[in-house]
Amino acid sequence: MQHNPPATTYTTAPMQRPLSGEIRVPGDKSLSHRSIMLGALAEGVTEITGFLQGEDSLNTLRCFRAMGVPISEPCDGFVRVEGVGLHGLKPPAAPLYVGNSGTSMRLMAGILAGQAFDTVLTGDESLSRRPMKRVIDPLTQMGAVIESAEGRSPLTIRGGQSLRAIDYVLPMASAQVKSCVLLAGLYAAGQTCTTEPAPTRDHTERMLTGFGYAVARDGARACVTGGGALTARAIDVPADISSAAFFLVAASIAPGADLTLRHVGMNPTRTGVIDILRLMGADITVENPREAGGEPVADLRVKSAPLHGITIPEALVPLAIDEFPVLFVAAACATGRTVLTGAEELRVKESDRIAVMADGLSALGVAAQATADGMIIDGAGACALPFGSARIDCQGDHRIAMAFAVAGLRAAGTITIDHCEFVDTSFPGFAALFQQVGGGLTVSELTA
Ligand code: S3P
Repeated sequence: MQHNPPATTYTTAPMQRPLSGEIRVPGDKSLSHRSIMLGALAEGVTEITGFLQGEDSLNTLRCFRAMGVPISEPCDGFVRVEGVGLHGLKPPAAPLYVGNSGTSMRLMAGILAGQAFDTVLTGDESLSRRPMKRVIDPLTQMGAVIESAEGRSPLTIRGGQSLRAIDYVLPMASAQVKSCVLLAGLYAAGQTCTTEPAPTRDHTERMLTGFGYAVARDGARACVTGGGALTARAIDVPADISSAAFFLVAASIAPGADLTLRHVGMNPTRTGVIDILRLMGADITVENPREAGGEPVADLRVKSAPLHGITIPEALVPLAIDEFPVLFVAAACATGRTVLTGAEELRVKESDRIAVMADGLSALGVAAQATADGMIIDGAGACALPFGSARIDCQGDHRIAMAFAVAGLRAAGTITIDHCEFVDTSFPGFAALFQQVGGGLTVSELTA
């Protein structure tokens, strides 16, 4: 079911005090999606804590409820999923609406390709512009039948096909495509393998293993054999490092900051943002490293530091793929030039993040130049205020909205950001948490 929240605008304001405090940002989005999906397909009851009650993962939850899976109403991050087994899903009465969420659409396409019934997957305007051919192609090779609007959603997935295993070499570094193929592989005859061109987040492989489903991994290759079963288990979802990233940059660029972020997921396929910020001179300390439910977690302490421009190593790009909007803000505050290459995937995220960020940064007076696969930014350095005033439309992209809110910490004027209702897809409560640690931000609703 479609849910249209009221349009919201953020207006940045001067910092109320040096950023400080100890906070826990909401649960990891990737893990929240997967906990519902695998919990639904498991045998037994999966109890989830730390679940992200953001629109994206809630859409996944609603879709599985619509397919007959009893799932409790999330409360304070707690969700109880009564698994129906790999073959227990029921035909939904209506198309499955996933809103803004590429992860829901691509991962669910893999699961739905293996069902006995037809389904239709739809999403919002931003999602209907994003490429789905990248999952349609391998699924079709497996014997799935998928109709689409020239490789875009809505997708109609015809049930009742017998899937066969494939050995798929991914043409791009994409955890969503890898996960889609592996999830379809649960329903295929034989051993399905994926080989990725660069390491991407491995939450699906880890969580399948945690649910007792064997995943054979060897470097870039991951394989599953169809016909097994998943066994329910408890899942503790750590705080999302992609949400923590806004505060890592905020505290790095705001004078006098000293902030601690609790229980952050530290999966090595997600920590590129820390590596990149440290290369730029950031002061980030990893405290109390530990393990929670098959994933490494830690507390992160970040203090303000003078940043300098760098050439971002391409190997770090997939490991920080969602963090570039806010990393561009860090680059604008750094001394010297930052160069990003090998990041063409940014053009097909919730928005074209290269174009939208370059336009917004330029409107704010930053020397930012978009390139085909990245960005060149000449930063203003620690002693200047790199951002002026402008009104920015985040183009339906939550991470663009939050990145410009962080830029407000070092703005000479006011930044007005329209359509911040999309922030709720990944980070409900962002503005309140930003204000709580000392950031200046007002939120207004367009009620007309
Ligand atoms: C995700 C994978 C990434 C990431 C997205 C979440 C996932 O996308 O950008 O926010 O949960 O698997 P790609 O796999 O398309 O790079």
